[in-house]
Amino acid sequence: MIFSKPILFSAVQPSGNLTLGNYIGTMRHWSKMQNNYECLYCIADLHALTIQENKIDLKKSVLDTLSFYLACGVDPNKSIIFIQSHVYQHSQLNWILNCFSQFSELLRMTQFKIKRKIESDCTKKINAALFNYPILMAADILLYQTNFVPVGRDQKQHVELTRNIAHRFNSLYGNIFTLPKPLITQYGSKIMSLLEPHKKMSKSDVNKNNVIFLLDDISSVALKIQHALTDSEMPSKIYYDISKKPGISNLLEILSAITNKDINILLKELEGIMYAEFKKIVVDCLSKFLSKLQKSYNDYRHDESYLKKIAYEGAIKSQLRSQKTLKDIHDKLGLIPFF
Ligand code: TRP
Repeated sequence: MIFSKPILFSAVQPSGNLTLGNYIGTMRHWSKMQNNYECLYCIADLHALTIQENKIDLKKSVLDTLSFYLACGVDPNKSIIFIQSHVYQHSQLNWILNCFSQFSELLRMTQFKIKRKIESDCTKKINAALFNYPILMAADILLYQTNFVPVGRDQKQHVELTRNIAHRFNSLYGNIFTLPKPLITQYGSKIMSLLEPHKKMSKSDVNKNNVIFLLDDISSVALKIQHALTDSEMPSKIYYDISKKPGISNLLEILSAITNKDINILLKELEGIMYAEFKKIVVDCLSKFLSKLQKSYNDYRHDESYLKKIAYEGAIKSQLRSQKTLKDIHDKLGLIPFF
């Protein structure tokens, strides 16, 4: 099949605990992207296996995440929505790409370095999959001849690695893979912690006051924003400057994302007001936004047979597409059955 629109691939790890950072950095853009791209939205359950804190059962969190996708406006008639483990081609290509990836380039991945440091601080053992994680991402992306991958700044390096792996393979075997490009939006690619705005908002943060979860109840959201770190500039002035005013800039990014207003326009509207008043505006907008999202989420989440139907149809469609790429690769490598 020939597609007139460029192909876009995106994924998040399944979690019933998605954060406002996940929404703003990633899922917020998905519904609009459906008009300009041929979109594949994946739930990366195999990636989630790298986190082995306790025994895990991913079924519930996969269904939770699927409900979020739909609540964020992803339309199964326009896009392919699927669960990574339902499409076994991902695991197969993963191994092949392992053979085209270098140990030294994986060691350079910032996300791995950070995770390794966190884990070793807690004297936990880190598994090999955490190291190989970006190769599975490369498989996800390359199976569909993806042109664009919308990513936050922290994931850009993984898309670059994907390009390197694809290029290495192509230079030996011909033009099998399309080289993907990262798609990064100017603001809101990375939402920071509320109390420590120099670090990314993360669902695994031990201090839950750093994080707004999409399913947080509205009263706790108000408290978290009220406690968010600002700064002590006198007189208090609201402007965007990540290094001088990380807290205020983060709140501006949040407000801009949920109101769909440009930061410069917001800054004009907010001229001359105090921090407390600014926070009240953020709380009001965020409360309205989250109540609406949560209602839609709950409607989908209560209809499991519909969710399973979407996942089934998505698996069939993505298997068809990915099998074509995988077959080409098997042919090139001589991995062909003799029977
Ligand atoms: N690693 C991504 C995350 O944790 C999820 C992911 C898996 C992904 N495969 C991908 C993102 C491919 C972009 C492209 O958010």
